[in-house]
Amino acid sequence: MSEKLHIIPHKHRINRRMRNEMKGHSSLVIWFTGFSGSGKSTLANALEEALYEQGYHTFVLDGDNVRKGLNSDLDFSDGSRKENIRRIGEVTKLMADAGLVVMSAFISPFREDRERVRKIAGEGNFIEVFVDCPIEVCEQRDTKGLYAKARRGEISNFTGISAPFEAPESPDIHIQSDKEPLDVSVQKLISYIQPKLNLS
Ligand code: PPS
Repeated sequence: MSEKLHIIPHKHRINRRMRNEMKGHSSLVIWFTGFSGSGKSTLANALEEALYEQGYHTFVLDGDNVRKGLNSDLDFSDGSRKENIRRIGEVTKLMADAGLVVMSAFISPFREDRERVRKIAGEGNFIEVFVDCPIEVCEQRDTKGLYAKARRGEISNFTGISAPFEAPESPDIHIQSDKEPLDVSVQKLISYIQPKLNLS
């Protein structure tokens, strides 16, 4: 794109802080990263249920849903995954600006892309959760039958089989989903997150 675009953002009178005050809690971005089948969506949904029941305003974004709609033009090449995460990062930020506690569950295999989302969301508003499950366990679970397809060569660029995953080096929260029960993981997340939801 060579043409200079003349875009001057409008400053809205109702801002994020005011929306947070009306809702009675801060916004937050909770970002789940891990292999397909590691338990990202299960964990995000269980956390949402627990927060929702306590009266927090929440929303879950996840891979299969977003890829059926907003990002239906993207495949699983490195470039498309990058664009996938960039767009989701922007949507996540809009939802946080709207006053929500957003749980985003995407493989998000590249460290650089996750770090960019952290910057978009704002350092103090972003929590990276590594849903750590060995690839052998994910493959054994194979709830969607995708690992078998990838092994048969029917799916190319499959994360962990024929495409890379850069594990977080220092995630805010590390969940070993093959070792601890779901309710223990949810409780661990809630204990970490709840103080950050208080309005200061
Ligand atoms: S990414 O890497 O962040 O852009 O992927 P994401 O948007 O989270 O989408 C992952 C879901 O797409 C299905 N699927 C694949 N995953 C990995 N590699 C390949 N090639 C692939 N093809 C389809 C799969 O169901 C993923 O869902 P989850 O919830 O992670 O199991």
